[in-house]
Amino acid sequence: MASLLSLFVSLIPFFSWPAAAASPARDGVVGVIYALGTPDLPPPKKVADALVSAGVPRVLLIDPYPEGVAAFDSTGIRVTIGINNSHIPAIAKNSTEAFLWVGTNIQQPNVTVEAVSLGYSVYNGYPDLAPLLLPALKNLHTALTKADIDVPVTTCNSYDLVGSGFPPSKAEFNKSLAATYVKPLLAFLNSTRSPFLTDAFPIKLYRSGVVKLTSTGVLNFGADESSYLTDDATGLTYSNLFDSMVDAVVTAMTKLGYDDIPVVVSGTGWPSVGASNEPEASVLYAAEYNERLVVKQNMREGTPLRPGTTPLAYIYALFDDPRNKGDEFEGNWGIWTAELQQKYTIDFNPMNRGVGGRGLPGKKLLFAGWIVWVVFFSFFCE
Ligand SMILES: *[C@@H]1O[C@H](CO)[C@@H](O)[C@H](O)[C@H]1NC(C)=O
Ligand SMILES: *[C@@H]1O[C@H](CO)[C@@H](O)[C@H](O)[C@H]1NC(C)=O
Ligand SMILES: *[C@@H]1O[C@H](CO)[C@@H](O)[C@H](O)[C@H]1NC(C)=O
Ligand SMILES: *[C@@H]1O[C@H](CO)[C@@H](O)[C@H](O)[C@H]1NC(C)=O
Ligand SMILES: *[C@@H]1O[C@H](CO)[C@@H](O)[C@H](O)[C@H]1NC(C)=O
Repeated sequence: MASLLSLFVSLIPFFSWPAAAASPARDGVVGVIYALGTPDLPPPKKVADALVSAGVPRVLLIDPYPEGVAAFDSTGIRVTIGINNSHIPAIAKNSTEAFLWVGTNIQQPNVTVEAVSLGYSVYNGYPDLAPLLLPALKNLHTALTKADIDVPVTTCNSYDLVGSGFPPSKAEFNKSLAATYVKPLLAFLNSTRSPFLTDAFPIKLYRSGVVKLTSTGVLNFGADESSYLTDDATGLTYSNLFDSMVDAVVTAMTKLGYDDIPVVVSGTGWPSVGASNEPEASVLYAAEYNERLVVKQNMREGTPLRPGTTPLAYIYALFDDPRNKGDEFEGNWGIWTAELQQKYTIDFNPMNRGVGGRGLPGKKLLFAGWIVWVVFFSFFCE
């Protein structure tokens, strides 16, 4: 089985990508989250073909099953397998389950599996599963290693574990979870050279009032550098909350003794519809945030704390999820419709990125008491 796998499964270790920054074939560092279980969608093969046409370089597949993973056969799209929380108990208790999981879901011809992630927001969201997560990750890692599949095994954490707003230098992991859970997880990730996955939703900090914004675009703190914020402890200047959230996680890990673990943003985005008291949830702002994020990330400038090391990021989500309708925060984050139409155009290809994402002239809109700068890329890019 091992030789079969090494023959057919094309595998790219995570650590190849920072080095790839210098290579001429520049893959985009921003991908999308595709929940295979979303109802009323076209078959996975159609979705995968549309992703290829749109130049999407990476996907995080949620609730994968064999045919769903196989849809990415020979597409060249790099796949991260996202295994649901409900599988944690079985994989933790019984390593045979881990082998079966790897064999049936990950052993696919010519699918480029980039990482495997087990569980979402387990430490702060699912206390019953928290003690089982690390044993399950270890079983999965062993199963993959025995099958000669050399990919990182990790878990998707919630930014709520850090929870802090600006500045990033003040960030630390939730004290009641840090010693018991987070530190042992970091030891595992460090020893297996695997990344720490966190979501990063600037809109949550913005809505909770943790960060006050007076004049802002929805990605950056503002359209011009005078509105950027400086972290006094480090002297580093931030143009946007996305970078500051990544650096907050880097800081929190460093405070626990791990300063070298890569960060991957396993969910970020902006809703295109919200309740009537949520004017910031709109197609206009969703387009601005996601379009500018992709351009900014594909410049590969890293973050102020880790210049030159650009975290991979996944946009939540490829599709709206009708199962979450009624929950304005969850239901309307899709960048495509179920008919595979783009709600707005995101250029995932780093080679076409036109004049870039910063310092562009903007249109000033007076809106809900904020001055919001909206940049229309279509005016400046082809
Ligand atoms: C495997 O996929 C790549 C694209 O990622 C393609 O170029 C290649 O032809 C495929 N190989 C086989 C044997 O199908
Ligand atoms: C994913 O796991 C959660 C928590 O265990 C569970 O409530 C949910 O039903 C699972 N979803 C799927 C699609 O298995
Ligand atoms: C572990 O799982 C396998 C496959 O589901 C099963 O055959 C076996 O009996 C399980 N072992 C234990 C100790 O539960
Ligand atoms: C830290 O985590 C605990 C357990 O999940 C939770 O009860 C508490 O509210 C969290 N603290 C903060 C400041 O978020
Ligand atoms: C993390 O891993 C590196 C490389 O294996 C090792 O040198 C370092 O001591 C580890 N850090 C900690 C805090 O264990």
